[in-house]
This record gives sequence, structure tokens and C-alpha cells, in this order.
Amino acid sequence: MTASEIFPVPAELAASAHVNAARYQELYDRSLSDPEGYWGEVGQRLDWIKPYTEVKSTSFSGDVKIRWYEDGTLNVSANCLDRHLATRGDQVAILWEPDSPETPHRAITYREMHGEVCRLANVLKARGVKRGDRVTIYLPMIPEAAYAMLACARIGAVHSVVFGGFSPEALAGRIEDCGSACVITSDEGLRGGKPVPLKANADQALSTHAATAHVHTVLVVRHTGGKVEMTPGRDVWYDEECAKVAADCPPEEMSAEDPLFILYTSGSTGKPKGVLHSSGGYLVYAALTHELVFDYRPGEVYWCTADVGWVTGHSYIVYGPLANGATSLMFEGVPTYPDASRFWQAIDKHQVNIFYTAPTAIRALMREGDSPVTSTSRASLRLLGSVGEPINPEAWLWYHRVVGDGRCPIVDTWWQTETGGILISPLPGAMALKPGSATKPFFGIKPVIVDAEGVPLEGEAEGNLCIAESWPGQMRTIYGDHKRFVETYFSTYKGMYFTGDGCRRDADGYYWITGRVDDVVNVSGHRMGTAEVESALVAHPKVAEAAVVGYPHDIKGQGIYAYVTLMEGEEGSDALRAELAKWVRQEIGPIAVPDLLQFAPGLPKTRSGKIMRRILRKIAENDYANLGDISTLADPAVVQSLIDNRQNR
Ligand code: WTA
Repeated sequence: MTASEIFPVPAELAASAHVNAARYQELYDRSLSDPEGYWGEVGQRLDWIKPYTEVKSTSFSGDVKIRWYEDGTLNVSANCLDRHLATRGDQVAILWEPDSPETPHRAITYREMHGEVCRLANVLKARGVKRGDRVTIYLPMIPEAAYAMLACARIGAVHSVVFGGFSPEALAGRIEDCGSACVITSDEGLRGGKPVPLKANADQALSTHAATAHVHTVLVVRHTGGKVEMTPGRDVWYDEECAKVAADCPPEEMSAEDPLFILYTSGSTGKPKGVLHSSGGYLVYAALTHELVFDYRPGEVYWCTADVGWVTGHSYIVYGPLANGATSLMFEGVPTYPDASRFWQAIDKHQVNIFYTAPTAIRALMREGDSPVTSTSRASLRLLGSVGEPINPEAWLWYHRVVGDGRCPIVDTWWQTETGGILISPLPGAMALKPGSATKPFFGIKPVIVDAEGVPLEGEAEGNLCIAESWPGQMRTIYGDHKRFVETYFSTYKGMYFTGDGCRRDADGYYWITGRVDDVVNVSGHRMGTAEVESALVAHPKVAEAAVVGYPHDIKGQGIYAYVTLMEGEEGSDALRAELAKWVRQEIGPIAVPDLLQFAPGLPKTRSGKIMRRILRKIAENDYANLGDISTLADPAVVQSLIDNRQNR
């Protein structure tokens, strides 16, 4: 990396930002040497009903126990709403920008949102939802999604938001796993002008899966006005129920360690895991990182383009920004509808100061050329952010030069569903930037790079990324399966949290995330376990065996490459390829559909029958020179046949 590719902190920002370079070093050192003191002070940014006296009680060995602010009590929705009423009740909390620019936008103040959340909380109570019950939220990007999350938090129910792009099958699995009492959905969603049949999907999930019988209530938001079926007794309209109840609902007093939400995410094996987050520690961490990483200042308009179905939407559209009293923009649509200027026009329309999106969106928009961007002003922008996957330097430079007019620093934020908030990222007033590097750890975060044997590497190094110490936003367990939690994250390298990511540290101590080292692919910033796609494929009657790997994709970062062995007597064809794509769409959702699918009469296996994925990965990557040792294969001839039939489009 040459010096010319380093972007220094703009002088103005070094002087005005929440954290400058000297302060970063001082606070970082303190956060590691005195975590109790540091986090004890930071925790006071929230309103506690009963203040905590114990700050940290964590252990990464044995049964793994993670507790923060353990004896404190609070209510998360009161922290996001009630405490702002006296000072900024009439400030906009959520700015909603609809799918179509022709549809009027909505601006909801903190006071209005407080009323909406209280009403919904009362509706949930009236329907018999109690503290500790699970509520599944399957909504499009509309303000009601945020109301629903906070209404759950208000009464102490645990929400599980399921991304609206997931199929009825995937939804059913998530409803069943956590035993939801209630589902909140809408008639339809709208994305890029096309309706998404959310209520019909929910109906299908509930009617075809007996194991979801614990759902006693389906609350339906009227959004597009599309026609839906209502099951009497179970299904009720959101607006009708809200009209019947009071706009005041006292918040439940919750312990800091009471669960706030479950969010399902993909791992390298088995079905998706219900990542469980806490109330107190999670909110402290989401709020602090939102303020410092985005250098958020009162009155600014902040826009994170993620969907609330993912963790980024939880921490950086809803919880972090609202705990900080920010104005958070929520966008229903897609970056390219009605055209490739959509983001930039919305930035001008709402005078957005801080903009946070994913590399896949940047790459897709970059392909459209500069003019859809340069035809807009973007003068309000001050800071840009990136999340979800490694950002290639080319996309970083375009984002910086064209979108940010060379003026706005980029915070490349590395984190995970499991971490609750950002762990490695520039603080824009403190770190010089290197395109493609997430730079340095946040306060309290102690990254360790280990080799394959788990030996920590010092200085310049490349290996697997672990975190040595707990932080308040860390997940507490996998819902209903603590053993799996310990095995997944704390058994590969004893006494450390293993992230599943590869990483390099350069001579300046900057971190460069190189991508997943496990069987997880990151497609357009969406995490997908290859095992999940494989089990969807083998569930098809014509499929005998399937192996799925990732390969580099220009826009999506990674694409999904599937090798499929058919049942005896079946023939591979384009029609069957299309049928399998449709099948995966139904089993999981559009994001899991293989980009390339190769019919393979045989897969490379060891003599003990284990599929050698390393070889499949290399073939998918078109990297035949580095297949490595294939002599241990049961039938080495399989490899040549796979190469000869590699799919390109
Ligand atoms: C990847 C999303 C490089 C990484 C917040 C991680 C990144 C996974 C970055 C988590 C980044 C996320 N640079 N890689 N800035 N951010 N990742 O759980 O592989 O959906 O493990 O959380 O995305 O994805 P998840």
C-alpha cells in the first residue's frame, strides 16, 4: 500500500469530532486495562430504573457466561422514546421514504412514535402477549416495523424479525424454533414497484406447519391495500385494534440481562441459529457505537439503507439511533428504482448528513456510471459508511470520489449479527483511512489473529480472527441451545470468541478482513450457510446429492455455485435447472438461489466419503492451477469431468 492511498483525517473533523486520534488511544488503552471502569461510565448514557452496581461478569471458558450490568433494570423502549419527550418530543424520530418517489414520505416525531408504540403495546397485551413471549415480525420497511420492535420491548416480549424476502418455509422454521405467540405482518410489501405477498406467505407458513400452532394472533398492517384472507379469531387488523386502546402504556421494568430479541442467522452447519441479544448491554453498545463511529451530532439526518430484517437494521436504524435521539431515515425501496439516482435524490430531498450502505449496492450503482450521482447535489453529506462484506478498493475509491465528492470520510464497519454492534471500524476523527481496511478496533475490543493451531500471531500477520475479551453488545446464547453456542464460537480456539472470518493485520496495526473461512457465503451482504442451500437442494425428489460453495462475483461479492448429482435415471437440463432455482426460492428465498448450477455425475470425495470442498471451491473460482493434492480422492477422474463442465453463466 503506497502513502498516496492513505486518506488522512480532515483537519476540521480532527478538531470537531467526538473522538480524535489522541483521545482514541487514551480511551482504547483504558477500555482494555480497566473495562469495569470504562463500561461502568459508558453505561450511564442510558436511563436505568434501578442503577447497576455490577458492570462485567463474563467468562469465555467452560460453560461460557456473558453478563453485563447484571443487577441493573431498565426498559429499552423508554430509553428510545420516553426520555426524549421533554427535550426533543417534536423532533423527527423516523423519516420514512417510500418505495416510489411519487408516494408522499412520512415524518414521525418522537412524541408521535411514543403514542404509536404505546398503542401497539396495549394491543399486544389485549391479545394476551405477555412478558417473555416471543413475537415474530415479518414486515416490509415501514415505520410499523420499528413500532413493533419497540412495542415488544415495552412489554418485555422478545421479538424475532424475519426478513420479508424469506419464503413461507423459512418463516415457518423461525416461528417454530422460538415458539412465537404472535406474528405481525402486513397485507403486502412493495419493492421496486412490485408487491411482495407477506400475509399470504404467513398464511402458508402457518397452515402447512402444524408445529406453528402456538401462534394465536396475527396482526396485519394495511399497507398496499392488497386483498388478503383473514382467519377469524386469529387474524386482526393492526389499525382497528390500535383504535380500541389507550395511547399510554407504562414500560415494564426489565433486567439488563433479559432478552431483547432473537435474530436468526446462518452458520456453517445445520439450520439457522437464533442469536439472542440482551436488553442493557446491547443497547449501551448499539448507542455508543452509533454515536462515535458515525460521529453523530444532534439534529443530523442519518440514513442506514439496511433492512430491519438484518442486524444492521436492528442496531443502526432502530436501537442505536433512537437511543441517541437521532433522526433515522427508513427506506422502503431498492437503490435502482425507479432509476439509479434514487439514493442520491433521497439524500438531497431529506438533506441527509450521514449515509450507511453495503458494498454490493455501491458496486451495482458504480456500474451505472457517474452521471446518476453527479446529477444530484449531495452537499448535505458529511460521512459515508460501508457494512456487510469486504469493500474492494475500487468500490471504496468510487464511493469516496464520486458519491462523497472526495470530501466525506468512509467508515468501513466490520461486525456480525453475533456481535450486536460494530467491532472494527474507523472513528472518522481519529483514523487515517486505507481503502479496503476496517482500520482499528473499537473501545473494549481486543482482536487476536491466530494461526490454524490457535497460536496468537503478533505484529504483521494473517490468520483467523478471534476476539479475546467480552463487550456489552455480544450475543448471550443461541436461543434454546446454549451447548451449540459454546461449540460454535468458543471451542475452535479455547477461551476466545471465534468470528469465522479471516483477517490480516498490517505494519500500522490496521485490520483487513479477508472474508469467511468457514462454509458461510456472503451474497450481496447476506449471510448464507452453504449447508442450508445443500439441504434445500437435496430435498428435491430428483436430487441425490449437492455441494454448494461461494465464488467471486463482480456485483454480489460472492455468488452461490451449486454442484448437483441427480438421482439415477434423471437427466440434467435447463428446465431442471430452472425448476431447482424455483425450488430453492420456495425453501429459503430468492437470496439463496444458486447463481451457477452444474450437474455433476460425481463429486470429489475422499476414500472415507467426505466431499472435498476445497477442490469444488477452486473449480468454481476457475482456479485450476491450485487444486492441490487430489491423490487422496476415491476417484481422481471426477475432477477433470467437473472442470470440463464448469458453468460460466
Ligand atoms: C462480513 C452484518 C468485511 C463478515 C453486520 C462477517 C464484513 C459477516 C464487514 C457478518 C466489513 C460484515 N468488511 N466483511 N466491513 N461487515 N462483514 O451477521 O464476513 O449479516 O462475519 O452481520 O459479514 O454478517 P452479518
